[in-house]
Amino acid sequence: MRVLLIGGGGREHALAWKLAQSPRLSALYAAPGNPGIARHATCVPIKADRIDALAAFAERERVDLTVVGPEAPLVAGIVDLFQSRGLAIFGPSRAAAAIEGSKAFAKALMAKHGIPTARFRTFGEPAAARGYCRTIGAPLVVKADGLAAGKGAIVCATLAEADEAIALCLEHRAFGAAGATVVVEEFMRGEEASFFALSSGAEVIPLGVAQDHKRVYDGDQGPNTGGMGACSPAPIVDEPTAALVMERIIRPTIRALAAEGRPYRGLLYAGLMLTSKGPKVVEFNCRFGDPECQAVLMRLADDLLPLLHAAATGAALPMSVTWGTGAAVCVVLASQGYPGEYPTGLPIAGVDEAEALPGVVVFHAGTARKDGTLVTAGGRVLGVTARGDSVSAATDLAYRGVDRVCFQGMHYRKDIARRR
Ligand code: AMP
Ligand code: GLY
Repeated sequence: MRVLLIGGGGREHALAWKLAQSPRLSALYAAPGNPGIARHATCVPIKADRIDALAAFAERERVDLTVVGPEAPLVAGIVDLFQSRGLAIFGPSRAAAAIEGSKAFAKALMAKHGIPTARFRTFGEPAAARGYCRTIGAPLVVKADGLAAGKGAIVCATLAEADEAIALCLEHRAFGAAGATVVVEEFMRGEEASFFALSSGAEVIPLGVAQDHKRVYDGDQGPNTGGMGACSPAPIVDEPTAALVMERIIRPTIRALAAEGRPYRGLLYAGLMLTSKGPKVVEFNCRFGDPECQAVLMRLADDLLPLLHAAATGAALPMSVTWGTGAAVCVVLASQGYPGEYPTGLPIAGVDEAEALPGVVVFHAGTARKDGTLVTAGGRVLGVTARGDSVSAATDLAYRGVDRVCFQGMHYRKDIARRR
């Protein structure tokens, strides 16, 4: 099978690494890819947002399956475009991707279909939004409706902070059109987990659970990031909890989307809060989480390619997938200043040395080659990922890998998967 992978971050490197192991793969292209992905795929310089050029490439190269990594092309309708040209593609249609592309849509869907989530209301008008904040009281969360590069959810400890967040979105338009509507919701207490499910539209199966570490500093301090590390499985999601999530959240959501005329094919990612009243949805994403994907795919024993192909084409899914024993942990190495401004183009040393440790894979997130040297090219630079017999073994091995890598200003959390 000839496959085109879209994207160029750590998640896509993990997908490329896993797809490259498939005996059914005959060619793998990545657009645009990165130096890590280039070890497994032929990289083509087409950015993920150039969906017409991507479809033309898939046609020209007789690609059998396109796998979309990031959310932006999905929300922009890449799947609809490919399908209109008869090209098989893994991911939800534009209408189904609205589950991530519009928080107002996702929340309304959950409310209508009884899917557990925080109490909320949606506003376009600041005074009404501020009034509702006074009804539910602080702490609360203000969320920009549309895609805001992971910065659109503002947790407010006080009503004054909520007023500011509302001003930021609705008055100052800090998120542009994405923040012209806001969701104001109740603050939920509990532990968070990322739950992946694979859906063909008709069927849906679990595809791994992981725990992300969103804050930049140890002890969950500092601003939110795209994710500083992940551990899979998530120790806090046991078998009965996972079964409950499938029954109360995942299956009803897939059914609800179908009932609304938006059948969902692809990877559905539920960001969960495990509250005292059971698991509730924080948000849905229409693609794999990054860096959760890196940890989850390290543990997947089955061939990923037929799974993605079946989901993409609406073919039968297996009842379940097979996992390797033990756990996998990914530690993200970030540029100085991330999640704020950061420099790029700094030389990176020690990747080969880290990968010389059996059980360690270093996934590239924001790297580039400059005159043959590997250099930094993003906020999140590398994801040092390790498999071990237990969470603590995988964690220790991942940090041994981290110790071998170095670039100027490199920072990372020292407490990934070590919180308890
Ligand atoms: P989101 O972009 O919706 O995933 O939100 C980003 C982060 O904000 C989440 O991972 C949570 O840590 C936090 N968050 C969002 N909504 C809530 C909520 N209703 N209660 C508590 N924390 C939340
Ligand atoms: N790690 C969180 C996300 O991918 O959205």
